[in-house]
Amino acid sequence: MLKKCLYPVAGYGTRFLPATKSMAKEMLPIVDKPLIQYAVKEAMDAGMYQQAFVTGRTKRSIEDHFDISYELENEIRGSGKEDRLAEIRSIRDNCVFTYTRQTEMKGLGHAILTGEPMIGDEPFGVILADDLCITEEDSVMKQMAGLYKQFRCSIVAIEEVPAEETYKYGVIAGEQFQDNLFKVLDMVEKPAPQDAPSNMAIIGRYILTPDIFDYIRNTKPGTNGEIQLTDALLAQAKNGCVMAYKFSGRRFDCGSLHGYVEATNYCYEKFHDPSE
Ligand code: UTP
Repeated sequence: MLKKCLYPVAGYGTRFLPATKSMAKEMLPIVDKPLIQYAVKEAMDAGMYQQAFVTGRTKRSIEDHFDISYELENEIRGSGKEDRLAEIRSIRDNCVFTYTRQTEMKGLGHAILTGEPMIGDEPFGVILADDLCITEEDSVMKQMAGLYKQFRCSIVAIEEVPAEETYKYGVIAGEQFQDNLFKVLDMVEKPAPQDAPSNMAIIGRYILTPDIFDYIRNTKPGTNGEIQLTDALLAQAKNGCVMAYKFSGRRFDCGSLHGYVEATNYCYEKFHDPSE
């Protein structure tokens, strides 16, 4: 039912300059895998095999990463290093990739609208690859896809954050519906702690129904002159239904230096074989 996943990757990644001057932030590795590869694996875990990217200048390395490299394939064929390419080969062999460019950075809402021709009239997932989510069992997107089957409406992933950090996120007010699930009543983009309706912050995982495109088209530029997805989602929540899901798993904000280093240390401890 959910076949497509959209990756808005057009942002400048200014917090990682100069590393991101000519390289995509989403290509930064967590140990030995770029952030974007973790993201695509997560979508595949949820049954989404059509990967759609909204890219920008300096992001060509993402396309190259998911393409074949004949020289490299030749070079390592039959060597002990071949299994290091196993996951990326399986991604390449099982998925279809489409790309379009956002020529002006007018915000996340605008980036998603730019992806409309690749999505069409069907529900879809959205992953912001700089939010890395590590789970023990089902990926966060798979957890959300299960809920989508039940509720057939847009769903945002949320996490409780310290009150003093609400200014970094879209924050919801919700009515509890069941364990870890809320019906969204209000949403505020990057509120100061005293203006935040709760401490439940939206993180970079969404399932959106295709009517979101019309809501975005009707959204006026908000904070910083950007077209905010939060504003479009609030309109959708008021006219229909948007759910907020407190996922199980751990999220790292790899768009910030602190979160990136934390994720690197965590993944090195958790997944790395010290004998390698
Ligand atoms: P951020 O504002 O967190 O990312 O946008 P950024 O702009 O890349 O990073 P900094 O703040 O300058 O360091 C959240 C997500 O939305 C995408 C970004 O690529 C990121 O994944 N985005 C944002 C777009 O694709 N287009 C936009 O116009 C804005």
